[in-house]
Amino acid sequence: MSKFYHLDDVPVPYRAVSASSIAMEHAVWDSLEPLPFDGDLGVGLIGCGWVAGLQLDAYRRAGIRVGALCDRHRERAERYRDLYYPQAKVFDDIDEFLAESDVAVVDIATHVDVRPSLVEKALRAGKHVLSQKPFVEDLDVGSRLAALANEVGRVLAVNQNGRWAPHFGAMLALVRSGLIGSVTSADFLVAWPQDLVVEAMPAFATMQDLILYDFGSHWFDVVGLLAPQGELSVWATTGRRAGQVIPAPTQANAVISGDDFMASLTFRAAERFEEVSRYRVVGTDGVVTHTGKHLGGDTVVVSTRSGQACIDISNNWFRHGMTGSMRSILNAITNGTQPSNSPESALRGLSLCFAATGSAETANVQRAGSRRTRSGTEAAVPDLAGESVAHGTPHDDWRSTRF
Ligand SMILES: NC(=O)c1ccc[n+]([C@@H]2O[C@H](COP(=O)([O-])OP(=O)(O)OC[C@H]3O[C@@H](n4cnc5c(N)ncnc54)[C@H](O)[C@@H]3O)[C@@H](O)[C@H]2O)c1
Repeated sequence: MSKFYHLDDVPVPYRAVSASSIAMEHAVWDSLEPLPFDGDLGVGLIGCGWVAGLQLDAYRRAGIRVGALCDRHRERAERYRDLYYPQAKVFDDIDEFLAESDVAVVDIATHVDVRPSLVEKALRAGKHVLSQKPFVEDLDVGSRLAALANEVGRVLAVNQNGRWAPHFGAMLALVRSGLIGSVTSADFLVAWPQDLVVEAMPAFATMQDLILYDFGSHWFDVVGLLAPQGELSVWATTGRRAGQVIPAPTQANAVISGDDFMASLTFRAAERFEEVSRYRVVGTDGVVTHTGKHLGGDTVVVSTRSGQACIDISNNWFRHGMTGSMRSILNAITNGTQPSNSPESALRGLSLCFAATGSAETANVQRAGSRRTRSGTEAAVPDLAGESVAHGTPHDDWRSTRF
């Protein structure tokens, strides 16, 4: 018998709504209502590194059942077993891990250079798969993985956890509910000292696309969800600023436009005063706004002709982000539907992100989807089964509080 967990059983992303009318309050709560999920589906995780710790902590609090942990460094899997899931089985061999019958969903939290072949292997072993982001470094590899999941009849989803970070999650839910009508514009500003965070990590400190890709991919992902269907074009530029402590550019702007739609992203990643993150998402019938720190704040405000509502939110990006992403795939498996974090949806955001880095390099406007790989060169991964080559992907021993 399946056990269903409800909002009361998980740390809540949305704490209260104060609205100018009861009708408005109900409309907002109805938009935010989270879905229950099947807590009996067994999850196994590959890649017990830095981000996996955040995932397992969030899953444990939410009542998600993790029964197996795998890392090629066995002691890392043992450490997370001891910290989060004392009953979990530990593996350092992928084939033995995949043979574990209790694992219905494989959560893959390795770096992207080795991930596509692991995703393929898990799908072919009959598992459902949640892939960490960035999903792929080559859009065509991503499409082939999506097609493979359909072919073998398994659910593949991407851990685009930013979609469930409370300040983004509330806004996306309000938009999805139709409360603000059709989205016409979306403008985002983030100002914070990311250069200080990665100063001692050369792989990140020298990464040319640190801001538009390593950090900004979550913002492009959100814009990909807000933008109307159809062609999108992207213009972007990057630069340095006096006083920054890393070689990589820390300032970036991107403008995304489509039919009756325009979005802008402004990143200032070497700021020293007044850290801030803001957005203003405007629709034909209303607007959603937020001001907080770089990973979110305490309030989201929605205004429509019917009035205004303030949603009191948690500012814990990772806990709610990781839980939301996993709940989405568990729901899809239980209900036989596509997850909202489907590979296709993740590829839209990535295509915007790659177009932005291409635009910044060439000083030209780029059509989303025209640049197929992160580097702009031909496929980095020759085929799903082959050995992959990373585009400057940091080695797997990097530890940090980077994003
Ligand atoms: N906001 C986010 O969602 C977020 C935040 C940080 C990192 N990430 C992403 O998560 C991924 C992992 O980042 P990290 O910082 O946790 O990396 P990490 O280097 O700390 O951990 C990776 C782990 O995977 C293991 N591993 C690698 N190949 C393996 C294999 N074939 N079989 C078994 N284990 C294997 C390594 O031993 C290591 O323990 C990256 O793609 C990164 O971009 C996402």
